[in-house]
Amino acid sequence: MKTIELAQYGPVIPVIVLDRLEDAVPLARALVAGGVRVLEVTLRTPVALACMEAMIREVPEAIVGAGTVRSVADAEAVKKIGARFAVSPGYTSAIGEACLALDLPLLPGVSTASEVMTANADGYHFLKLFPATAVGGLSLLKAFASPFHDVSFCPTGGLTPENAPQFLALPNVKVCGGSWLTPADAVNHGDWARITELAQASHALRR
Ligand code: 3PG
Repeated sequence: MKTIELAQYGPVIPVIVLDRLEDAVPLARALVAGGVRVLEVTLRTPVALACMEAMIREVPEAIVGAGTVRSVADAEAVKKIGARFAVSPGYTSAIGEACLALDLPLLPGVSTASEVMTANADGYHFLKLFPATAVGGLSLLKAFASPFHDVSFCPTGGLTPENAPQFLALPNVKVCGGSWLTPADAVNHGDWARITELAQASHALRR
């Protein structure tokens, strides 16, 4: 699989933070029930790897990847437990090369033209713009379109249901990322129906 193929499943990749292992499977089921199959589970909590393993084992319809991959060791750990892809907040050639060697599809984060060029030189042309709204958002993506005509983006960071349609309308945006599909209060209260509704609603954001 190539990371660009993740875009075919829907316009929004949920960025997931899980504090409790027992929430992993019901959350994945709730998102899949809402038609959202690509799930990015961030390596931000001690249970993240165990949560991914549980989702992979119990929810085969889900395409589970790891977010917040910051080191070669992170990439090796998530490959070992069966993550289908990795997302990094920034880019280093060490991570890029390690993911190629591991056969782990990587969606690398960039926020400057120089980082785009470094990632391109290592073979990556589908990139996450992070943190999208903080580094220039729509105007930066429009400005990147001409010099980087063969590069496409997954803006993440600061996107909302209100501004996502404008990002998704740009020709160089294939999909976007956001945490709003999995609000912490809904996860903490086990409000899986709300998460399914948010997932369903995300499909209408690409007009
Ligand atoms: C993150 O860093 O958690 C992701 O970029 C998601 O950001 P968001 O909460 O602004 O959607």
